[in-house]
Amino acid sequence: MTHLDAYNRPISYLRISVTDRCNLRCLYCMPRDGVPLCSHHEILTYEEIETIARAAAELGISKVRLTGGEPLVRTGIVELVRVLASIPGIDDLAMTTNGIRLSRHALALAEAGLLRVNVSLDSLRPERFERITRGGRLEDVLHGMEAAREAGLQPIKINTVVIRGTNDDEVVDFARKTMHQYWNVRFIELMPMGRGLSIEDEWREKIVIAQEIRRKVETVLGKLEPAKVSAGNGPARYYRLPGARGTLGFITAVSDHFCYQCNRMRLTADGQLRPCLLSDHEIDLRTPLRQGAGIEEIKSLLLKGVETKPRRHHLAESDGPEKRAMSQIGG
Ligand code: 5AD
Ligand code: SF4
Repeated sequence: MTHLDAYNRPISYLRISVTDRCNLRCLYCMPRDGVPLCSHHEILTYEEIETIARAAAELGISKVRLTGGEPLVRTGIVELVRVLASIPGIDDLAMTTNGIRLSRHALALAEAGLLRVNVSLDSLRPERFERITRGGRLEDVLHGMEAAREAGLQPIKINTVVIRGTNDDEVVDFARKTMHQYWNVRFIELMPMGRGLSIEDEWREKIVIAQEIRRKVETVLGKLEPAKVSAGNGPARYYRLPGARGTLGFITAVSDHFCYQCNRMRLTADGQLRPCLLSDHEIDLRTPLRQGAGIEEIKSLLLKGVETKPRRHHLAESDGPEKRAMSQIGG
């Protein structure tokens, strides 16, 4: 049922960005003054998202993740979750959020059929957190994670982008957290995304590769053992500190690309299908939808995305994509 792309990869996963807006301005994701936002009319309606999700499900896409910007700033998001959760064939529905509004919504999201959340968290120190996110409150995120756990949105994965000189001195603190808490911390290598980013020019100096993070953790806390995380089939490789409750993962987007096992495509909030995060090649779904395209036509456009999915990215040798900031794609 699931379709293979030109390199024999089964494409079973669609990430849907529901908004390009965000209530934070993380250093590595957005310029200080934000990025030009899509107008209301450019953003897909929930009905349009539903049509695309139904088409995707009929093509064997069984996993959907809602992203942003920040998905929880779009009104009615719980209702979208309810609709998507009821689509036959979609058996894994998750969300990536910055956690700021999670404590308010966790219960309703779980009740509507959301299964899990990934939470972005780059510092455990309140002041530093505020600086990295340009104004966020760490406490809100920690409460959000607690609420998610209580609501059964589990296992929670934590996304930590490691940046040299900014938070790389905290990797051991994050790792320590996994000893007693059921945290699944994933260290993510910084990617160069979009123009105008404060961090863009210095990307090669700021990136900390997984090997270095791992060495830092192991020097202080001991050898990591390979581990499995019960949910998800993403690119992270997981480990556990001896005796730890939680796990540590590494997303080596740059140092050791995992493109050969990539199983996903992305849909931007303004209705462009993006077969690869790191390629600016996009297929417009919004225009056909608004000209009356039905499920069959959308299915053939999705298949076109599958067929034209690039083999791999070339970040190690060249620059990143330029068309969009990360907040416009959803990571
Ligand atoms: N490099 C690596 N990861 C990033 N994210 C956002 N921008 C970048 C970047 N430049 C991650 C965030 C978030 C996820 C959606 O994408 O940490 O958790
Ligand atoms: Fe918002 Fe996430 Fe980008 Fe931070 S990384 S600005 S939380 S979209």
